[in-house]
Amino acid sequence: MPKVNFLPDNVTVEVEKGENLLRTAMQGEVHLSATCGGSGTCGKCRVVLEKGKLDSLDTELLTDEEKKKGYYLACLCKVVEDVQVRVPIETRRGERAVLDRLREAAAFGVMLTTEDIHALVDFKVDPLIKKVYVEVEEPTLDNNADDLSRLLVALKKDGYEELTVDYDALKDLADELREKDFKVTVSILTLDHNKTVTRIEAGDTTKNNLALAYDIGTTTLYAEVIDLDTGEILSFASDYNPQISFGEDVISRIVFSAKGDGLKKLKKAVIDDFNKLTKEALEKAGRKSEEISIISAAGNTTMAHLFLGISPKNIRKEPYIPTVTHWPAVKSSKIGLKAPDGSRTFVVPGRASYVGGDITAGILASGMYKTDKLTLYIDIGTNGEIALGNKDWLMAVSCSAGPAFEGGT
Ligand code: FES
Repeated sequence: MPKVNFLPDNVTVEVEKGENLLRTAMQGEVHLSATCGGSGTCGKCRVVLEKGKLDSLDTELLTDEEKKKGYYLACLCKVVEDVQVRVPIETRRGERAVLDRLREAAAFGVMLTTEDIHALVDFKVDPLIKKVYVEVEEPTLDNNADDLSRLLVALKKDGYEELTVDYDALKDLADELREKDFKVTVSILTLDHNKTVTRIEAGDTTKNNLALAYDIGTTTLYAEVIDLDTGEILSFASDYNPQISFGEDVISRIVFSAKGDGLKKLKKAVIDDFNKLTKEALEKAGRKSEEISIISAAGNTTMAHLFLGISPKNIRKEPYIPTVTHWPAVKSSKIGLKAPDGSRTFVVPGRASYVGGDITAGILASGMYKTDKLTLYIDIGTNGEIALGNKDWLMAVSCSAGPAFEGGT
């Protein structure tokens, strides 16, 4: 099988003869600009051949002079032998640029602190998953009720009744109870007036309760670690959205998602990157992934579909219908996120195909829905959205601004 060596990262990928060069780059996590999603029309996926030969379709998007210098469009090339290609600066994504900008912003004090946010929206820490410490009566020959029944009795004494218990929480119940003399911490999810036990841990872990906030931007991904015990924002990490290699805007990603295993690839790209960002942010905060109880993610309607691996294909066709706007809570591990089985991921609900959960989250966080004053909320991103209104009414519109506001050119 031929090998492709990508410079300047010196990443080598082995592929079947005839494989597309853009797909080969994606396989090696070499992220190239690809606004048109690989259909050969944007001219962004330029690479320079350093060694070997490529089998390429001709294109008018490169000048004769560029062709002489060895420029090719990666999406129009097949790999037929060992080659070395250089990814020029204009084709590369500056993965760390956003993070650096955020660090600068934090250093100059232009980012909101935890206190600023709490003051702005009269914020109370009231997580959907709470951790409750209980001491369960030990079994004897006279009191030989099963472990779960005795746990539920202990929880009832603390005021927690009518609980359902998730299968994943039950699996290790016997061991968790006995590890710390029948003292355990129980995670209880309250949703739509239903209470579910999602996790049982040995000992008192009530202080080890973390949430992650994910911003699923079309261009940028952002993750924050929040202590659910104090409400404090502990750390953050950010990166370019690697889905850019499949198309820079939502429309080209919807088109890509409808081809072959495109949807699977887009979901994997975003989930893998959030796992990486989470690890980085947890390390900065000195905390562990076992402490994660909740992940809350917000993004535009297409990004939310791709994050959960649900097809967004009808969003771009009249009458522009998304599959879902109000998302059910999902087990974080079920969608590939590296978090305990007992943790849940919530995707912020949107309103329509082009007014998504990112704007809902902004409206909630800004508190504009509670004020008498006429308020304008502006989200300047790859998809620009504005919302106007107050506590009596709200309206929102959106349009594509391209990646210019997020470091793209
Ligand atoms: S021309 Fe290759 S990705 Fe657009």
